[in-house]
Amino acid sequence: MNPVRAFRRLASFAVVITIGISFAPVSVRAQDASAIYAQKCVSCHGPQGKGDGPAGKYLNPKPNDFAVSLKDKTDEWIAKSIKGGGVAVGLSSVMPPFADLSDDQVKALVEYIKKLGS
Ligand code: HEC
Repeated sequence: MNPVRAFRRLASFAVVITIGISFAPVSVRAQDASAIYAQKCVSCHGPQGKGDGPAGKYLNPKPNDFAVSLKDKTDEWIAKSIKGGGVAVGLSSVMPPFADLSDDQVKALVEYIKKLGS
């Protein structure tokens, strides 16, 4: 193989690796969760999960502080409350269901809001 060709091969290999790394599952998940949270949750729950989003203040009941409310909850419980809404876990229906989120997205959100609350 001539050197130019060899270099091209190497270069395209490097591109593939770089793309592969930037789309690694962990970073996609983390980005995904914060983007979903910013779009669907922050207005009620607030940026730090304190329940002080612009809409949250006017709700009855108000969203709880995740640092307190998630303390003794399992991941399954949290996922259920997101997918099925407050009513799925015996809370208020003011917490809407997000049935359109995939299981992976819900899982990522669970991790995200647990960190917000710590
Ligand atoms: C319309 C406002 C609103 C939106 C939007 C909303 N929530 Fe809630 N959420 C609430 C309220 C209010 C409660 C508390 C219900 C109660 O205490 O009875 C709650 C409760 C919860 C709970 C149960 C634990 C707790 O703190 O009480 C979880 C988990 C949760 N929300 C996650 C989310 C996630 C994740 C999103 C975005 C995908 C979201 N919420 C979007 C209002 C909202």
